[in-house]
Amino acid sequence: MPSRPTIARTIPALRRALEGLRARKASIALVPTMGALHDGHVSLVQLAKRRARKVVVSIFVNPTQFAPSEDFGSYPRTWKSDLARLTAEGVDLVWNPDVGTMYPDGFASRIITDGPATVGLEDRFRPHFFGGVATVVGKLFTQVRPDIAVFGEKDFQQLRVVTRMAADLDLGVKVIGSKTVRERDGLAMSSRNVYLTPEQRHAAPILFRTMKEAARRLRAGEDVHAAVGSAVETISAAGFSVDYFEIRHAETLAPITSLRDGPLRILVAAKIGTTRLIDNIAV
Ligand code: PAF
Repeated sequence: MPSRPTIARTIPALRRALEGLRARKASIALVPTMGALHDGHVSLVQLAKRRARKVVVSIFVNPTQFAPSEDFGSYPRTWKSDLARLTAEGVDLVWNPDVGTMYPDGFASRIITDGPATVGLEDRFRPHFFGGVATVVGKLFTQVRPDIAVFGEKDFQQLRVVTRMAADLDLGVKVIGSKTVRERDGLAMSSRNVYLTPEQRHAAPILFRTMKEAARRLRAGEDVHAAVGSAVETISAAGFSVDYFEIRHAETLAPITSLRDGPLRILVAAKIGTTRLIDNIAV
């Protein structure tokens, strides 16, 4: 039976646990999460295990990346099953601070992001989001000082923002993206999928199907504008309100006008009922 990971909830406890892990100069991978772990997170942990000797998973629902109108209060918290999954995967350390530990009284500093954080995708609809993500991930990187950190490609803009930040601030961590894990019908795994009603869950794979169809059309020579227009129509007809369906340069996330401007990434965000889903694929 795999042994339960060490659990640290305070900065001194984290330091002690890390000293133990670093003995004999073992490499350390960090997988930052907000808990509510699913098979997508497990695949991040498995990639981390292949790339480093020791694996640290952080579980912290970060209030600063949620707007007051968003789901911070109702975000799923599933500590027991999260811990069981991490134990089964042989994770070494779980870093599980509370809000007061991460943001003590008087906390007044923030990482401001530009570049991939201001390209008009998630930032257009969640203007508070990347400031909160960059600040908490910057803190996690300085607290844990990992050699590598693994993030899901599902949050593609987040992956680009965090990669840029780690390089810009010389944080000494290599950020690695991990492929999106999908349900059998193509829906990208997400902790927020539990919000979907059975009807909405039935409709949700249209996002992936429509991105695949748009990629096919682009490769067949269809104009970007036409491919995007018909994708938005298809997704709207399935009951979604589309925030964006965009084809961007995969590295810079800059807008493009043709397949020749590639490598390209299709990115979508759309709401069904009160649940907002995001997804992306390579063209
Ligand atoms: O992707 C997430 O779960 C969060 O945005 C992250 C990276 C753990 C920061 O809170």
